[in-house]
Amino acid sequence: MKLLVTGGAGFIGSAFVRLALTSPGQFSLANVDALTYAGNLENLASIANDPRYSFHKADIADPDAIEAVFATVQPDAVVHFAAESHVDRSIHSPEPVIRTNLNGTFTLLEAARRHKTPRFVHVSTDEVYGSIDEPHDADESYPLHASSPYSASKAGSDLLALSYFTTYKMNVSVTRASNNYGPFQFPEKLIPLMIANALEGKQLPVYGDGMQIRDWLYVDDHCRAIRAVLDKGRAGEVYNIGGSRALPNIEVVQRILAATGQPESLIKYVTDRPGHDRRYAITSEKVERETGWAPRMEFEAGLAETVSWYRANTDWISNVRSGAYREFYDKNYAGR
Ligand code: NAD
Ligand code: DAU
Repeated sequence: MKLLVTGGAGFIGSAFVRLALTSPGQFSLANVDALTYAGNLENLASIANDPRYSFHKADIADPDAIEAVFATVQPDAVVHFAAESHVDRSIHSPEPVIRTNLNGTFTLLEAARRHKTPRFVHVSTDEVYGSIDEPHDADESYPLHASSPYSASKAGSDLLALSYFTTYKMNVSVTRASNNYGPFQFPEKLIPLMIANALEGKQLPVYGDGMQIRDWLYVDDHCRAIRAVLDKGRAGEVYNIGGSRALPNIEVVQRILAATGQPESLIKYVTDRPGHDRRYAITSEKVERETGWAPRMEFEAGLAETVSWYRANTDWISNVRSGAYREFYDKNYAGR
């Protein structure tokens, strides 16, 4: 099996690569990543010397570069993580989001079509359903209602991927996961940002009233689900992947303050995100029934592990916070 992973230097992609390469067996894993602000080869230091692993620096929206990668790797399967993944960035600066998430996915699908790649898993998000009113939980047939350029780009790329099944009979599946957390997540998303700020005694910016609800999924549970869909998922199907742990943001922030021993006075309520989705809630019954997957990590244990990891890796935090991220952060979030 020759596996091609895109975005393997990011948060979830690197967890998937590390997990895959802890398994023995004769397979190869090629990682194609442009190393944007969110891509970091430090995340892969533990497996970088595995002879089954190769790294290809390329932009997924560059057809020539992607053709060269496919010609070299000749993959049996693609697991497509690469994306501009942050909602706030997509609001401030949508162009790279559309380019990578839509054009990049298109470029990969076309390469897979030309090379007759036997399997393609497109990694997507529950954000494509938009805000979901209680008491409903979205299953895979729930209507798409994207609120941000990020979620619209993911919804569009989901439909494009599924069209390659319908039109070209390609073996494509789409996964839609809820909010991931765990080690190596870039400190711009809620949990790592709040942990990093709390560890430094900085303010914790909570958008609006902090009562927005997200469902939390430990990153390794997500990666096991993607592996299960890669192996057992059906062509042309969508699979929701949730953590079955819905919490208001403010409660997550309070738990982080408790775990880091910091006072609640660090909480600062700030202007809400434009178009902010109030509640995400999905059912993962389909992936559980069809593949046997279930989440293993309890939120309390996962959050404790995550806080410990960030506490032990403050150099990693300062490394990723320098450079391009630092400029963006200062420009858009200075003072928050
Ligand atoms: P991330 O931002 O941490 O990593 C993205 C990776 O993609 C980085 O390594 C980056 O360098 C790479 N990349 C970006 N643009 C590229 C391009 N043009 N060409 C090649 N590589 C490029 O993202 P993440 O949080 O690990 O998310 C991975 C995937 O999972 C995304 O598709 C995202 O939509 C999806 N997802 C994320 C979450 C979450 O909570 N983080 C939840 C559900 C789904
Ligand atoms: O639901 C899956 C999605 O989860 C993924 O598709 C995205 O890639 C991922 O970024 C995440 O999107 P969210 O917008 O839900 O995640 P984020 O961590 O940016 O925000 C989580 C919640 O916390 C959201 O309600 C906004 C709020 N928030 C976020 C930040 C960064 C704050 O209140 N303050 C903050 O500083």
